[in-house]
Parts: sequence; structure tokens; C-alpha cells
Amino acid sequence: MNIVILAAGMGKRMHSALPKVLHPLAGKPLLSHVIDTARTLSPTRLVVVVGHGGEAVREAVGAPDVQFALQAQQLGTGHALAQALPLLDANVPTLVLYGDVPLTRASTLRRLVDTAGAAGEKTGYGILTVTLDDPTGYGRIVRDAAGQVERIVEQKDASVEQRQIAEINTGIVVTPTAPLAGWLAALKNDNAQGEYYLTDVVQAAIAAGHPAVTAQPDAAWETLGVNSKQQLAELERVHQRNVAEALLVAGVTLADPARLDVRGSLNCGRDVFIDVNCVFEGEVTLADNVSVGPNCVIRSASIGAGTRVDAYTHIENAAVGANAVLGPYARLRPGAKLADGVHVGNFVEVKNANIGVGSKANHLSYVGDADVGAGVNIGAGTITCNYDGANKHRTIIEDNVFVGSDTQLVAPVRVGRGVTIAAGTTVWKDVPEATLALNEKTQIAKTGYVRPVKKKN
Ligand code: UD1
Ligand code: CA
Repeated sequence: MNIVILAAGMGKRMHSALPKVLHPLAGKPLLSHVIDTARTLSPTRLVVVVGHGGEAVREAVGAPDVQFALQAQQLGTGHALAQALPLLDANVPTLVLYGDVPLTRASTLRRLVDTAGAAGEKTGYGILTVTLDDPTGYGRIVRDAAGQVERIVEQKDASVEQRQIAEINTGIVVTPTAPLAGWLAALKNDNAQGEYYLTDVVQAAIAAGHPAVTAQPDAAWETLGVNSKQQLAELERVHQRNVAEALLVAGVTLADPARLDVRGSLNCGRDVFIDVNCVFEGEVTLADNVSVGPNCVIRSASIGAGTRVDAYTHIENAAVGANAVLGPYARLRPGAKLADGVHVGNFVEVKNANIGVGSKANHLSYVGDADVGAGVNIGAGTITCNYDGANKHRTIIEDNVFVGSDTQLVAPVRVGRGVTIAAGTTVWKDVPEATLALNEKTQIAKTGYVRPVKKKN
């Protein structure tokens, strides 16, 4: 089938410079959600109709399998679809989606397409409909006495009786493509909004012997669109609830499914526990028995089996081995690679650094641009001085080094295996293995010293 995504509307009610369809839901533009769902149906052609902010939209979602059609003026949904016609394959049906309706499931779309395909001798014109308690604002599905769809009437054109109809047009339709050009060309805009309504094609299809048929989504939220920030926030919650539900079904323990945000994909092993208020972004993998404490942010990272991530830990573009302990208040920045059994504690920042098996940096340290071996103990307040004001340099700490508290390692520098560094040392040249490194300092105990006292006015 062809798939056309209508995305030319301007989204005035978003009150934003960003085109409506580029507003993010779960960290991804609304339109990208629709495109991703469309892709799962393997369309022969995938066309996005753009108008307002068209260039920005192309830039944001452009891909080899996506074609764009420009609707310079927003003259209605029928006019919008007409702009895509030259790009379509006339031999297969065309599914029409909206760029601001992000959560429709592929299974629902497939059902609609199948229903239309099985409608009769001629392919049907399929309409995805739902029945709402409050149908105000939507196009209504008008049926005859036998229950057959006759037409769709827009809210603004509907009679008082028609406004009582609770079954509405979600806007998602599937239509035969070959006759579509003729039907669209025949549309008139003599209606309440002065627009070329796609909904008026229904009558043309029926007249040409293509029965109008309907299908329904599994859930009404699948067809909800975004016209305002309120609706965007509502759909974000719907989506997050669905994600949490899927994690629970897969066996993940969530302290509170309502206090979890996944903006990307979160892959969990068995017996994973996630406490409240965690945010996961990009591709995140938590292996078996990982537990994540409250208020953690984890972006594009993999965490090995049995690792404990304690509260307020922040991880980005990092890989952590098994049985590690991170936080509370640890920060792993891009390029942090931690082997099994590593401990990185409170207020420790690790960037572009490898830390070997079983090594520990438990308190208040910065480990950047470094290669730390196995079994290393990094004392509190240790700093790798990686930046000389112009360039970054590496610090190499070999296996079984003991770094005393408050050590500065001025890179580039290498500390040989088994070295002990005394507390408060500035290491500014390489240290041969198995030695003790210290700076000569004296401690003086001065007698007769008088501490200043605060003057009284
Ligand atoms: C449309 C339907 C209505 C349905 C409702 C569901 C028509 C005439 N009406 O109404 O029956 O109940 O959706 O939400 O089709 N768009 C363009 N170019 C245009 C006009 C619209 O690309 O010239 C796009 C919009 O960006 C949006 C979609 O089409 O994604 C729907 O447009 P909108 O103006 O929201 O249609 P409604 O009047 O709500
Ligand atoms: Ca709308």
C-alpha cells in the first residue's frame, strides 16, 4: 500500500515556533512516531505532505524511504492528499494518516486495511471510526437505515440531529488509489469552512461502487491528535503508561508505573527493579538483576547484570559491567567504561575513561581521559588534571595502585602497577611500578601562635 501522512497544518494552538508535528512525545517528534508505525506496514510509497515549516520538517525526519509533497496553502484535507497523488502507486490502496496523531497501533491500521480489502468485489473505502461520549468537533459518520455508511458530515456543517451521532471519523482512512485523482479533482469547497474536505470523497467512492466500510481501534487513545500543549501532555502520559505496562508484563518491577519516563527504548533482563522518578533516554539496556534507585537519569547506556545504581545517579553514553555499584550521586559521562565489580560513589565523575575489574572510586573524584587498571583504589578527592588549557591528555594508572586521598594526577602521566601514592600528592611525572610516590612537604607545629579574634565595634 501507499501511505500518506498529512502534516501541513500549522498548529496555531501550540503557540510555538516549532512546527506542530515536530513537538516531541517521549523524546521523539510526533511525526516520527507516525513514520515509524507506517514503516512497520512496509509501504510501497511513504509520502509526508508538508506545508508550514516544511523545510524544518524535511530536515528533522528526512530519510531515503520518505518522500515529501508540498501543500503551499492549507486548503483542506482533500487538497492536502491531492498534493501527494503524483508520488503514489495507483495499483495499491492508499492509507492516509495524520502527522499529529502519534499513537495509532500498526495492528489497528492493518485491521482497517484488511476490512477495506475484504469489502466486496471492488476494494472498499475504509474509515477508522470511534464512538465518543462527547463527539463535539469531529466529523460524524452518517449511516442509512440498514447501517451502511452514507457520508461523513463535519461538525460545522452538521444538522442538530447529525450532531447527536456519537460515531466519529478519526480521519484515518484507506482508499483505492486509481480512482482517487478523479474523486479529489471533483471536490468542492462550498462548505462551512471553505475547504476541500477529504471526507467528501466517501460519497464519490460509494457512487463508484466502492463500499464505505469501517473499522475500530483497540483503544480510543490510538486516534487522539495533538492540537495543544494540554493534548500533548495527555498523550505523553498515555504513552508512558503503555510503556510502563509493557515493562510490568515483561516482568520488570516498577516502584510506581506512573513515575517512570522512557524516551527511547529500555531493554530489561529478568528481575530488574526500577525505583521512582527515573528517566531513560536513547537505547538503554539493564541486564538481569539490575536495580536502579530513585531519581536516576540513564541515557544510551548498558548496565551489566547485578549492578546497583543508587539514587540520583546520572549516566550518559557509558557501559557498565556486572555487579558494579554506582552512586548515590555518581556521574558517568560519555566514554565511561566500567568493568565488573567497579564501585563509583557519591560525587564521582567519570568521563572517557576505562576502569578495570574491581576498582573503586568511592568519593568526590574526577576521573577523565584515563585508563585505570584492575584492583585500583582511588581515594577521596582525587583529580585527573586532564586539560592543560589547550589539549586533553591521558592518565594511566596500572593494576593494584593505591591512590591516596586528595591526589592530583597531572596528565599525561603513567603510574606503574602496585604503586602507592601518599595522600595529598601532586603526581606530575611517571611513577615506576611498586614504589611509593609522595611530594616532600614538612609539617610545622608553631608554638605561641595567636589566632585572630573578631573586632567588636
Ligand atoms: C478532520 C476531519 C474530521 C475528523 C478530524 C479528526 C476533514 C474535512 N475532517 O477534521 O472529519 O473528525 O479530522 O481529527 O478531513 N491538514 C493538512 N492540510 C490541510 C488541512 C489539514 O495537511 O489543508 C492536516 C493537518 O495537519 C492535520 C490533519 O490534516 O494533521 C487534520 O486536519 P485538521 O484541520 O485537524 O482537521 P479537522 O478539521 O480536525
Ligand atoms: Ca484536528
